Amino acid sequence: MKIINKVEELRLEIKKLKSEKQGHIGLVPTMGALHNGHLSLIEKARKENEIVVVSVFVNPTQFGPNEDYDKYPRTLEADSKLCEKAGVDFVFAPAPSDIYDEYYFKHKETTLICPPYDVVNKLCGKSRPGHFDGVCTIVAKLFNITKCDRAYFGKKDAQQLFIIQKMVRDLNFDIEIIGCPIVREADNLALSSRNTYLDDDARKTALDISKALFKVKELCNNGIKDCAVLIDTALAIMQNLEVEYTEIVSVDTFEKINTVEGKALMLIAARVKSGDSRVRLIDNIEL
Ligand code: PAF
Repeated sequence: MKIINKVEELRLEIKKLKSEKQGHIGLVPTMGALHNGHLSLIEKARKENEIVVVSVFVNPTQFGPNEDYDKYPRTLEADSKLCEKAGVDFVFAPAPSDIYDEYYFKHKETTLICPPYDVVNKLCGKSRPGHFDGVCTIVAKLFNITKCDRAYFGKKDAQQLFIIQKMVRDLNFDIEIIGCPIVREADNLALSSRNTYLDDDARKTALDISKALFKVKELCNNGIKDCAVLIDTALAIMQNLEVEYTEIVSVDTFEKINTVEGKALMLIAARVKSGDSRVRLIDNIEL
């Protein structure tokens, strides 16, 4: 496995390898702090492609001014070991200055991919203006840099996955986007790099998010399809959390629905107090 920081070096390596062993390139884009959720994406990519690239890059353009860009966990050494064990060919770990040019650092602006307003300015995008523009921009850059055939994303970031699928269709990227199931701890807490911010009490409180989701799924399976009732049930379980949103949307359109008929998703974002910080967590479940 090679760890590469420079765009041109990765391009050369991929070109060389592709000419030698011809085959598909699978990309797993990450911001590092790898956990078993990421490893499940890497495992799938390894099974389905001849060449696997894992990018590790904490992307500044997707963080708002008051978000956790500076304190986001950076654990490249441990991440690289995990990747090596998982049979990855290349870890691409650029510095911000390898990805964005001087103009960006001077003016805090770059060429962006901006999905439609109504698609991004709801759910996570409502409290994180510009977030999905930054995500789409870095993902498109990684697609161009790696020339991947397939790219793997976790379903925990359901809105991100929906938006990336739309970007790929809208911009005619010849890339297959593969959504992979949420990986949970034994007690159902969805794995997230931000779980490292949680102290013991906060971790216990955070469990109310998955409790709410699983309760709603149970009610729905038992015939309760009214979204207002389902959302109230979830909110009642999450009284110790600062809930940012609890919504039920159609899987196909990501638009709010009133009644669960076809495939739907319940999505939650909530903050948990942990010491002096309020850790923002997201989770969802298919209904
Ligand atoms: O999901 C993430 O970790 C990030 O949003 C991604 C897709 C790697 C882009 O920076």
